Amino acid sequence: MIKKLKNQGLDAPWTPIYLIVVGILLALLNGISLKSFWNWLGLIVGLLMIASGVIFIHTSIWGKRTIWQNIVDDLGIPSDSQVLDLGTGHGLVLMDFARQLKAPGQATGIDLWRSRDQSANSQATTENLIKEAGLQDVAHVTTGDMRDLPFADDQFDFVTASLSIHNVKPAADREKCLQEAVRVLKPGGQLIIADLIFVPTEYVKALKDLNVTLGPVKNTGFNGWWGGPWMSTFELTATKDK
Ligand SMILES: C[S@@+](CC[C@H](N)C(=O)[O-])C[C@H]1O[C@@H](n2cnc3c(N)ncnc32)[C@H](O)[C@@H]1O
Repeated sequence: MIKKLKNQGLDAPWTPIYLIVVGILLALLNGISLKSFWNWLGLIVGLLMIASGVIFIHTSIWGKRTIWQNIVDDLGIPSDSQVLDLGTGHGLVLMDFARQLKAPGQATGIDLWRSRDQSANSQATTENLIKEAGLQDVAHVTTGDMRDLPFADDQFDFVTASLSIHNVKPAADREKCLQEAVRVLKPGGQLIIADLIFVPTEYVKALKDLNVTLGPVKNTGFNGWWGGPWMSTFELTATKDK
């Protein structure tokens, strides 16, 4: 687990730490003397917070990985594809796609490397992980902002965004990310997003104004629970019109 944490980083690292630490304190303080209704309530809330933190860590380390492995398996990615991963972090999705490629196929990851969004987040870390995986011929990363992509129009066969666009604020900037993602896609290329509650509402609404055909929105279930079903991961695919 420690190796997985080091290689993948933990998403929004302060959230599960807060849930688990406060949960343990609440459970201990109230569990010592179960004299009143409030002690029982404090104990139950504490235990629920611990469970929520553990589920969050499961999703960050294993659940998200399973979601993307299923997406990659279903896509059937041609080996010469050009792939762009927005907010690549430790390159989990970048490398899953890169494993399907053969040069001149290439997966590019772009990020601003924000540690509050993913622990130990840096370009050097992800470059080392790419090298360790032996994928340096088919994967590379660059520093840049997904609101203003440093790429020409119509360049990529696949653009992916894994739990990254929701980190951009305000909503108008998230819309800019979607516009940029579609701009750099080749006609016929696919945008694949896995993200939080903004997907079924805000992203679908924004994408309807762009020249894409939308696929269905899918709730990814337990593997995408960020603490519980109230914070689920949704999957969305859009194909750029020809
Ligand atoms: C929760 S992490 C997810 C990382 C990775 N996609 C994954 O699924 O493991 C969100 C990532 O988005 C990046 N990010 C946030 N805002 C960004 C922006 N405006 N442009 C590029 N990357 C950004 C963060 O630095 C972080 O690496």
